[in-house]
Amino acid sequence: MTAALALPDVEATAALGARLAPLLAGGGLVALRGELGAGKTSLVRAVLQAMGHAGAVRSPTYALAEPYLIGGLEVWHLDLYRIADPQELELLGLRDWLRPGVLVLVEWPERAAGWLPPADLEVLLEHDGEGRRVHLSGPLASRLEPVAARA
Ligand SMILES: Nc1ncnc2c1ncn2[C@@H]1O[C@H](COP(=O)(O)OP(=O)(O)OP(=O)(O)O)[C@@H](O)[C@H]1O
Ligand SMILES: [Mg+2]
Repeated sequence: MTAALALPDVEATAALGARLAPLLAGGGLVALRGELGAGKTSLVRAVLQAMGHAGAVRSPTYALAEPYLIGGLEVWHLDLYRIADPQELELLGLRDWLRPGVLVLVEWPERAAGWLPPADLEVLLEHDGEGRRVHLSGPLASRLEPVAARA
């Protein structure tokens, strides 16, 4: 199943992050696809803040990986844009983080093609005018609660 949603501004991205956070509280692998500037880091930031992370969420473009501990949940935010060879992932220790109960959010997962297991949540972001459009698929996408109707 794939759900497509309009994200007209970063506030809409923040609201989606709040909807996704409960689904990811038990860990899992999230693949975030989309071109440069599509809003992948913004969505990760929204999810981590909705989980209760109070500090900054920086893009791990140079660090490759940024660890967090949020209410007892181990979280790894990865940006594999600079990975040229999936073997570099072995050196990075990525395999050790792909454990049950750990949340791993990966930007540019295509750099690790054939190396990452299937994601629990696939996120595809694309530009749509000034805003963005997001497509969600994978096992966790079907558990996304519809937005509550306004009373
Ligand atoms: N829903 C949205 N509507 C409008 N602008 C957005 C939206 N989401 C994010 N942006 C803006 O897009 C810009 C790029 O966002 P972001 O850094 O999250 O992209 P990215 O996909 O992580 O890029 P990269 O591939 O370089 O890591 C930021 O200025 C951000 O505020
Ligand atoms: Mg990014």
